[in-house]
Amino acid sequence: TQSLRLGVAGLGTVGAAVVRMVARRAEALGQTSGRAIRVTAVSSRDRNRDRGLDLAGVSWFDDPVALATSGEVDCVVELIGGAEGPARETVETALASGKHVVTANKALLAKHGAALARQAEAAGVALAYEASVAGGIPVIKALREGLTGNTVSRVYGIMNGTCNYILTRMEREGLTFEACLKDAQALGYAEADPTFDVEGFDTAHKLAILTSLAFGTEIDAEGVSVEGISAIQPLDLTMAEELGYRIKLLGVAQTAAGGIEQRVHPTMVPKSSAIAQVMGVTNAVTIDADAVGELTLIGPGAGGEATASAVVSDITDIAAGTRRPTFGRPSASLSPSQRVAMQRH
Ligand code: NDP
Ligand code: HSE
Repeated sequence: TQSLRLGVAGLGTVGAAVVRMVARRAEALGQTSGRAIRVTAVSSRDRNRDRGLDLAGVSWFDDPVALATSGEVDCVVELIGGAEGPARETVETALASGKHVVTANKALLAKHGAALARQAEAAGVALAYEASVAGGIPVIKALREGLTGNTVSRVYGIMNGTCNYILTRMEREGLTFEACLKDAQALGYAEADPTFDVEGFDTAHKLAILTSLAFGTEIDAEGVSVEGISAIQPLDLTMAEELGYRIKLLGVAQTAAGGIEQRVHPTMVPKSSAIAQVMGVTNAVTIDADAVGELTLIGPGAGGEATASAVVSDITDIAAGTRRPTFGRPSASLSPSQRVAMQRH
């Protein structure tokens, strides 16, 4: 078998970690997938920046769209970010060129995921996105592969590492919101525009992706009611603490009369609850399903290595030839007529 040749577009926090991980784990990845996996091309804006990467023998593209059409690439790994612009163009071009795509870009999927999935399926290639929700937690795999015998009634949790990091440090150290956000940015957790994190939009994007998988519906990020954490003051956290609560930014999707309710907002959770113990950049996603009952996955929600772990798991699946419908659960019992409209607020 020929090797799977990767073109990595974007060499920032996640992209650089992916290039390093593919090199470090080359032998194990080859054994797991039955096929050698190597990076043959990369793209980033600044060619001269030292990223601590060994790029000997790897082709450099100033333009990620050119990388997406390169004959040296079988699978494009999009780690640029943003719902429009170069990220969208790179993914669309890659799929149109018959190349597999792996992305961590939840903003892109939340807005254009349905159309991109149709494009990928028509082209017979994979569009894989494990890293788009909850960083290193394999929650897409859990929902899509591990729970096919279940009907899911609710998915909820802490899905933004930056917000949980900020709330944790404000509560524990009495720091200001602004100081905590600066640290989250320096650690590589925040989005390029951190408004997406702190105003709840990033959580909404992730929730919309999980909703689609959990309930077999088309992604509807517009249908999420959203409130972020930017208005939370240290006093709010102190007051909550005195009453026996912590404040967490939760995303919740559940079946409700007339549809599926999707909402994101700061929530008071009892200090004794499991979700209240989730601190720092850690995320937690709870799935309520009929056969397994309640299942909670806890792990790192952001950061280069943790996110690269999820990206590399998608790459390994593609190398192994695993194919699944992009969003719907194959065994979901929902037929189109039973699907319910998302509830809007
Ligand atoms: P960064 O901002 O660290 O990296 C983005 C990269 O894209 C940079 O290397 C940048 O180039 C490159 N880039 C931007 N514009 C262009 C362009 N026009 N052409 C070529 N390259 C370009 O982002 P992250 O690594 O943090 O995030 C990448 C993606 O992963 C995003 O979709 C994000 O939402 C997602 N994600 C991030 C997580 C995290 O913890 N950081 C976790 C989960 C998902 P240059 O370096 O030269 O400026
Ligand atoms: N900015 C995101 C977060 C990255 O903080 O959770 C992971 O998706």
